[in-house]
Amino acid sequence: MPIPRVERQELLRTIARFDGRRILVVGDLMLDRYVRGSVSRISPEAPVPVVRVTEESVIPGGAGNVASNLAALGAQVAVVGVVGKDEAGRRLLEHFGDHGANVEGVCADSRRATTQKCRVVAERQQVVRFDRETTEPLAAATEKRLLAGLAVQLARAQAVVISDYGKGVVGPRLLAAAINGARRRGIPLTVDPKPEHFRRYRGVTGVTPNTAEAWACMGRAPRGGEAALTALGRGILAALRSRFVLITRGAEGMSLFEPGGRAVHIPTRAREVFDVSGAGDTVIAALTLALAAGAPPRRAAALSNYAAGIVVGKLGTATTTPEELAEALI
Ligand SMILES: Nc1ncnc2c1ncn2[C@@H]1O[C@H](COP(=O)(O)OP(=O)(O)OP(=O)(O)O)[C@@H](O)[C@H]1O
Ligand SMILES: [Mg+2]
Repeated sequence: MPIPRVERQELLRTIARFDGRRILVVGDLMLDRYVRGSVSRISPEAPVPVVRVTEESVIPGGAGNVASNLAALGAQVAVVGVVGKDEAGRRLLEHFGDHGANVEGVCADSRRATTQKCRVVAERQQVVRFDRETTEPLAAATEKRLLAGLAVQLARAQAVVISDYGKGVVGPRLLAAAINGARRRGIPLTVDPKPEHFRRYRGVTGVTPNTAEAWACMGRAPRGGEAALTALGRGILAALRSRFVLITRGAEGMSLFEPGGRAVHIPTRAREVFDVSGAGDTVIAALTLALAAGAPPRRAAALSNYAAGIVVGKLGTATTTPEELAEALI
């Protein structure tokens, strides 16, 4: 379906305003590690394949992937979060440093492990994944440092993304400080929610749950059909008193709810689908950057849907650029 000319020009104008916007990402940083290789035999020690490693790579995941997506879209990114004093934490900080993100607000805590997901992939098949993480609430001293870092970064930000994967960073105090700070400064604050923390998000600008998370946020069993979806979106809006709710619906695109308005259903713009992991991170990154660039939620959501449509067509957790995004608007 071609986009009307006027709408396309508005979308392009918003993209042109992405460059250099200062966006703060607060949340659970992770490191995704990929060990790639080939299998030619079964181990003599146990009935498992032997993978001959040919390649190893690391990329930021979780809130880190949101930061990567923002940076690729042209934002000036600052990060507030926690890493352990371990190799994975160092790799993460190094990666952010190389990509120009501000990491003054990242605390290193020797009592925590940097969240890490290591996937062993042979001939494109995942053989095993092993995780390392600490999910306990933060120690009081770490939370204090984090709050201080948040205050500094918030004062410079033009929008805030909270990327809550439930690993301990997004506690009630940190959230309250972020929500109040963003309100005081009149800047948008969006949340990729953890359903268990739903009640804490009251007063945010917008949330971006996927369908399953949206149902879980309301503590209801999922039901199909447009009427049920509309009731769900309205329920979340009322509970949070937010400016909008954007439910991402995988292959079915996304639905935007705003107070007083009708639900807007946006079909996916993906042309090819290779890898859908991390699409939600792309959505909240592009959405928030567009809001910071002055777009209303409807236009910001439309752009985030194009951005997600591009990244699902790439292999591996991926990002997109303003140029690719502009090209996709045909
Ligand atoms: N299979 C698909 N086909 C086309 N588009 C897709 C597909 N999966 C995701 N998308 C696009 O990506 C957006 C976000 O995807 P989804 O709703 O799966 O988020 P998510 O569950 O939070 O993803 P993740 O947690 O893996 O990052 C969708 O709104 C849509 O635009
Ligand atoms: Mg998600």
